[in-house]
Amino acid sequence: MEKLWAGRTDGTTNPAADAFNSSIGFDSRMFRQDIAGSIAHAAMLAATGVIGKDEAETLTEGLTGILADMESGQLLPDPAAEDIHMFIEAELTKRVGQVGKKLHTARSRNDQVALDLRLYLRDEVKTVKSAVTALIGALLTQAEAHADTILPGYTHLQRAQPVTFGHHLMAYVMMLLRDGGRLDDAAKRMNVAPIGSCALAGTTYPTDRQAEAAALGFDGACENSMDGVSDRDFALELLSAFSVMMMHLSRLAEELLLFSSWEYGFIELSDAYTTGSSIMPQKKNADMAELIRGKTGRVYGDLLGLLTTMKGLPLAYNKDMQEDKEAVFDALDTVMACLPVMTGMIATMTVNKDAMRAAAGRGFINATDLADYLVGKGLPFRDAYRAAGQAVALAAAKGATLETLSPDDYKTVCDRIGQDVYAAVGLDACVARRQSFGGTSPASVRAQIAAVKKQLNP
Ligand code: ARG
Repeated sequence: MEKLWAGRTDGTTNPAADAFNSSIGFDSRMFRQDIAGSIAHAAMLAATGVIGKDEAETLTEGLTGILADMESGQLLPDPAAEDIHMFIEAELTKRVGQVGKKLHTARSRNDQVALDLRLYLRDEVKTVKSAVTALIGALLTQAEAHADTILPGYTHLQRAQPVTFGHHLMAYVMMLLRDGGRLDDAAKRMNVAPIGSCALAGTTYPTDRQAEAAALGFDGACENSMDGVSDRDFALELLSAFSVMMMHLSRLAEELLLFSSWEYGFIELSDAYTTGSSIMPQKKNADMAELIRGKTGRVYGDLLGLLTTMKGLPLAYNKDMQEDKEAVFDALDTVMACLPVMTGMIATMTVNKDAMRAAAGRGFINATDLADYLVGKGLPFRDAYRAAGQAVALAAAKGATLETLSPDDYKTVCDRIGQDVYAAVGLDACVARRQSFGGTSPASVRAQIAAVKKQLNP
């Protein structure tokens, strides 16, 4: 394929160098954005008198035709073209003749590629956002169904205090809401147009960058042309938002793995999201959860890879920056593969309330409540804490629980303990009493659910 940049050199390159240099294998997914950018550019050039109105019309018609043919699959990106920008420009000139060569006035591939990537990611963020919202929806439904399902809450992976499963799930909802907020923030800062920065220094042509930016739905035009062509922090910010979100998905995946194991038996994942073993007939493996956990590392890798690519680059554009797209597209594809699978797993899992309840009944997780009961009887908290600890030791020695320890045994621990202790250490009561804002009581969980629903549908 003839090189559009042949001039200083004769444009003949070594085939291996050509292949090495080419990005069309991964940047052609931005064809719609490239064409939208070119149509806006042609309109701006006509409005400022750089090209004729009829010329802009011809360019627009040609570009619209290319878009239609690429959408329908009739026109495929030529792997011999260096990148999607060169391919579309060459195709345009093939279709509309000499005027096609005017399109690239007052721009450069450096601002063009920065524009295309911002446009592309800006659109994709919306898709990711709706996938996050769908996952939040599935978690809310399960949280509502299990607002009063009791299980042990853990610290240090040791049973700590009774909580509700709805409360546990709502913690993930809060994380995902912040993840969505991070996506919004990244999209907002990304929505500034680099087009018109040209190669690096701006241009001598009378351009109207603000109008071109507005036509493409940007909030404004970037204010420094060298920054416009060389900044990739918009991609890094998105990768970092993806990384934090994947960390959350990975923690949730890990809990699905633990909770669905025989050791816990708290949940069962739907057959639709599990696999079997080729040798062990009894196995039901949560491969999807493991893959989400595993792919988290891959998204971190994309972030670290691009950070490292960018760290030593002098201003302005450098070809190293072509590496940005594979990193950010890989992370995007990974996130978009993980979110719907996680949503499906959450929506279809069944919860074994009895197993959760049984686990909550062992491990003396109501010991804090016994201490609180003694505080209610007038003991200072430190003394109450010690007495509750002695009750736990006694119950453990007798193979009893705080619910089944006899009144006489309780009296040996502290003579202020009366019959009302049994109501105080009952798991339902322990949970129901935690009505502090954001606490684990069913009432509080329902309040959290209502607040989130209101936030999502104001
Ligand atoms: N394919 C290139 C990239 O992805 C486009 C910009 C090339 N600019 C240049 N001056 N060689 O970054």
